[in-house]
Amino acid sequence: MTERSSWEAIPLIQIPEGYLSRIGPFLAEMYERHGPIFRSNQNGHDVIFMAGPEANRFVLLSNRLKFSNYIGWTKIFGVEDAFGNGLLSMDGAEHDAHRKMMNPAFAITYMDRYLPIMQRIIRERIAGWAARGEVDVYEEARKITFDVAAEALAGLTPGPEVDQFRELYLAMLRLTPHANNWDEFYAEQARLKDELYRLLRPKIVERRQHPTDDVLGMLVRARDPAGNALSDEQLIAHTNILLVAGHETSTSMSAWLLYLLAQHPDYLQRVQEEQAALVPDGVIPTLDLIQRMKVLENGVMEAERLYPPVSYGPRGVVEEFDFHGYHIPAGAHVFYAIAASHLIPSVFAAPTRFDPDRFAPPREEQKKTPYALVGFGGGPRICIGINFAKVEIKAMIAEILRQYTLALAPDQDVELFGVISRPRHGVRMRVHERAPALAAI
Ligand code: HEM
Repeated sequence: MTERSSWEAIPLIQIPEGYLSRIGPFLAEMYERHGPIFRSNQNGHDVIFMAGPEANRFVLLSNRLKFSNYIGWTKIFGVEDAFGNGLLSMDGAEHDAHRKMMNPAFAITYMDRYLPIMQRIIRERIAGWAARGEVDVYEEARKITFDVAAEALAGLTPGPEVDQFRELYLAMLRLTPHANNWDEFYAEQARLKDELYRLLRPKIVERRQHPTDDVLGMLVRARDPAGNALSDEQLIAHTNILLVAGHETSTSMSAWLLYLLAQHPDYLQRVQEEQAALVPDGVIPTLDLIQRMKVLENGVMEAERLYPPVSYGPRGVVEEFDFHGYHIPAGAHVFYAIAASHLIPSVFAAPTRFDPDRFAPPREEQKKTPYALVGFGGGPRICIGINFAKVEIKAMIAEILRQYTLALAPDQDVELFGVISRPRHGVRMRVHERAPALAAI
């Protein structure tokens, strides 16, 4: 196409029944049929999907300033009403200044500080799994990832108070409007938001008086170029977003990885062999060892590819642009289609197959096509927690596999669900203590 067409000429797709359980495969099919841009209209709202590596690069890097995260995450996804305007939904210079304040706490070298917290919480939380016989690894992973985020990022000690925070965030995340009942939805959302504010505000006051060295403490001490401190509202929004983004997604990804490993015993065996080779008996892995767990790392990336916890990233268009012959005006809404991009056969060989070796040399499919694997986003606004999440997930899987063998419990429907996707009914697994001989494999 050489002439540019109006956005209305973009191929229109119909969202099928059961869409929320197969967003990736469905949108990948639309990509094959229509190319990297297509649109849907639901209840009168037009959304433009941009899918595939070229589109991802356009939205996340080369034309990123034409897109607003604020409009995407707050106006389209409603994040501000629930949690306030944190890093995820800020735009422009404000975002850059706040990201700069937080970046040091998320550098890979800083993970040394968090790893002992992660490992202690993981050990405490998984103790007793075998005695229980069967656990829902999705539910269990949430307890671990939330305790870790609360302690490492906000300096909150695990216990009843942190449990209360976790339940409040979960209630907020699962709040779904029922038709004709928006008033109730908004009332409950406001109640939960107030409750979080009421519980978090004293933490901020406390940190102003007694500075801590967690991320919240850093933010309390931070000053903008004019010398101003962040307001209570800003600090609470940041904490909300760090605690929510810092655990919901890692929970899903670790549960999916355990699910995938349970279904692929050959690969699981290789992960266990790598553990045995790298981690001497009775030794708690250091950050360096965790970074050397490449077989496990490739498994994590395969879980990211097949079950990306964020199915697409929402954006508001703030400056018109042309893409693939179409003219998109300011005011349009765009989703860059993460889950669909991961299932493109010209990029990922046999894309529905679990095949973590695709990420190992010499294949390295993700490196051959930049912006093809975008489970953590990409470009300057790539997930700030990518190191944190990967270290945590690897530490968790390593410790679980060191202690236990897991098998999927029978008679369950493991179903992927949602735009912020998760196993809808959890993932139940039978757990057995590893025999000492096996522990040495
Ligand atoms: C498996 C785990 C995780 C996944 C899959 C994930 C995914 C993502 C994605 C896709 C984005 C980009 C969104 C966009 O482009 O609109 C993002 C951004 C972000 N994530 Fe994560 N995330 C994970 C873990 C974490 C953790 C552990 C933290 C905090 C400790 C975190 C905090 C954030 C924040 C604050 C942003 C916004 C960054 C910015 O815009 O500058 N995430 N994440």
